Amino acid sequence: MHLGAKPIIFERAKRMRTNQTSSERLLWEAINGKQLRGLKFRRQHPILTYILDFYCHELKLGIEIDGDSHNEEQQKLYDQKRTELLNAKGITIIRFGNQKIQNDLEGVLAEISAFTPPIPLKGDQGVKGAIHAVLTHGQFINGPQVDQFARSLEHYLGAKHVIPCANGTDALQIAMMALGLKPGDEVIVPAFTYIAPAEVMALLGLQIVWADVDANTFNIKPESIIASITPKTKAIVAVHLFGQCADMDAIMDIAVKHQLYVIEDNAQSLGSKYTFKDGKTVSAGCIGHIGTTSFFPSKNLACCGDGGAIMTQDDELAQRIKMIANHGQSQKYHHEVVGVNSRLDTIQAAILEVKLPHLDENNQKRAQIAAVYDEVLKDVPYIEIPQRTSSSTHVFHQYTIKVKDGRRDEVQAKLEAQGIQTRIYYPMALHQQRVFAHMEAKSLPVAEALCREVLSLPIGPEMDEIKSLFKGFKW
Ligand SMILES: Cc1ncc(COP(=O)(O)O)c(C=O)c1O
Repeated sequence: MHLGAKPIIFERAKRMRTNQTSSERLLWEAINGKQLRGLKFRRQHPILTYILDFYCHELKLGIEIDGDSHNEEQQKLYDQKRTELLNAKGITIIRFGNQKIQNDLEGVLAEISAFTPPIPLKGDQGVKGAIHAVLTHGQFINGPQVDQFARSLEHYLGAKHVIPCANGTDALQIAMMALGLKPGDEVIVPAFTYIAPAEVMALLGLQIVWADVDANTFNIKPESIIASITPKTKAIVAVHLFGQCADMDAIMDIAVKHQLYVIEDNAQSLGSKYTFKDGKTVSAGCIGHIGTTSFFPSKNLACCGDGGAIMTQDDELAQRIKMIANHGQSQKYHHEVVGVNSRLDTIQAAILEVKLPHLDENNQKRAQIAAVYDEVLKDVPYIEIPQRTSSSTHVFHQYTIKVKDGRRDEVQAKLEAQGIQTRIYYPMALHQQRVFAHMEAKSLPVAEALCREVLSLPIGPEMDEIKSLFKGFKW
């Protein structure tokens, strides 16, 4: 008989008690380390039913650790009552002595594991199942799905390290912090892209240096990078816009020659692959020193909210990135550098884990839709269909055409009347935005012209037949 047993019930989201015995603490840490169902536990409360209903309605296992009893009779009664209540709730009790925990922790864990299956990492009913799995274990922050998804994305990309974070903008900021960029350092960024990289540069006090882009690929132009380099230049942001990679052969050559860091902003091209002139093929985001991405709901790999990730092949950088994303600490409450709070929610990670295996298939569907658009648009004299480079695959985050002769508004209105909604990415180049008006004026003719010509047509894996939409359409 386990007289004076101290029952411990796993609960989902409560704090570890501070006055735990060493056996409790040992077990608590081991259970968390093994990521077993039931994340924390606490001593049984006298108001047993309340505790059970409130905290343990999903739990099926209670653990008791032997202790000393002051009143055997009372303890017996208490044990009996508790066991009845727990049984009525369908909760099994297993008991361990202090000695067993201290001397045979692995054995104890094995017994617990037999009762508690590991937290289900894959939602067996798709996204809903994945969300349910997280709701069940309740580890909403840094739950096991976050790590699981990071490993899956590493595998998918062939990346050495993937560090999830809260969104693609944070990913860029953390990347720049991890590279040790300091106020006044110059970073070259394309003027025709989303504002995120320039925004975080401004926040970090970095000197934004605008580069122009290639008129055909919309990506940063190597010649413009070269023309922008000064002794203060420290890094280049290569944005892989709309679904295909920037000219990474040239960019990496420039970076090596001038000893610059390369950050790949891969928010729009996850799944795209770049083939170097020597035949080597690498996933977008895994070429430069650091890659970043976003899982914003419109992205090719989308979660149901905000999400992002950072990739690197460098062990030391990976450690720094992890630390910066987590308040600058590698150990709780030991802060080594200035960091930020940027985490991918467990629910979002669980959703992404379910969706990642479909990314290639979805990207292929996008490419098929793009091919149909090509067919429909190729003979319209004032429209240029998106050009593909031979060095990169295209995952068509956007299908962006150029409408010449000042006819964009007219085309947009006609398409709208046909039920085809279009968008303009981007209507104004970054160097012309009011927020950057204090900076020295610079002429970037290609970026400026593109802002007058580009038009993005709807594209996504969920779209079916689109040819019929254009039936009878008069260009
Ligand atoms: C090229 C690019 N970089 C960065 C971001 C920022 O990502 P997030 O919205 O997740 O912060 C985006 C998002 O639209 C983007 O398109």
